[in-house]
Amino acid sequence: MGKIRKVIYPGTFDPITNGHLDVIGRAAELFDEVIVALATNSTKTPLFTEAERMELCKESIKAAFPSDGHVKVDSFSGLLVDYAISHGAIAVIRGLRVLSDFEYEFQMALMNRKLEEITTVFLMPNEKYTYLNSTIVRELAKYGKDVSGFVPDCVSKKLKEKFKK
Ligand code: COA
Repeated sequence: MGKIRKVIYPGTFDPITNGHLDVIGRAAELFDEVIVALATNSTKTPLFTEAERMELCKESIKAAFPSDGHVKVDSFSGLLVDYAISHGAIAVIRGLRVLSDFEYEFQMALMNRKLEEITTVFLMPNEKYTYLNSTIVRELAKYGKDVSGFVPDCVSKKLKEKFKK
């Protein structure tokens, strides 16, 4: 048997959205193992704690890919390339939604390749998610809007709880 083709899908996931799940599904069709890797040292100040983000990722992945043992959830701190290399990953997955994503992603992909010769694979989520990001979801939820069409059920429930307080 050949080597397992493992890839890393990193992000802040504050919270995970249907757009992220769409990218994970596409990656899972192409590779043997997808590790959804939650960055704990993100430069962002998250709404959800690391434990909450992790739990929401695990729960929504279990619901979206019920019998699929080859999507795993993990967390990492430090540099993404170090994490990817130490886990024997062949590539990093990133989603590209709109042109404005490109500059940041291009810089990150080239820097990661410079650091460790790691390849970045860009996948395009379904176009219905192009306008989606976690900031918009958090903001809508904060003002009491229903976000159930944009995020998994467990996330929409957790957002409601968070903003009720
Ligand atoms: N659907 C919906 N939203 C999506 C999406 C998709 N398919 N893909 C990305 N997004 C959104 C995210 O929700 C997020 O929204 P937000 O900014 O409003 O919160 C935004 O697009 C981008 O976030 P994400 O994909 O989670 O990436 P990130 O920019 O938060 O994460 C890391 C970046 C963690 C991968 C990067 O900072 C990293 O590697 N850090 C580790 C340290 C390191 O190695 N640094 C050197 C880098 S060269």
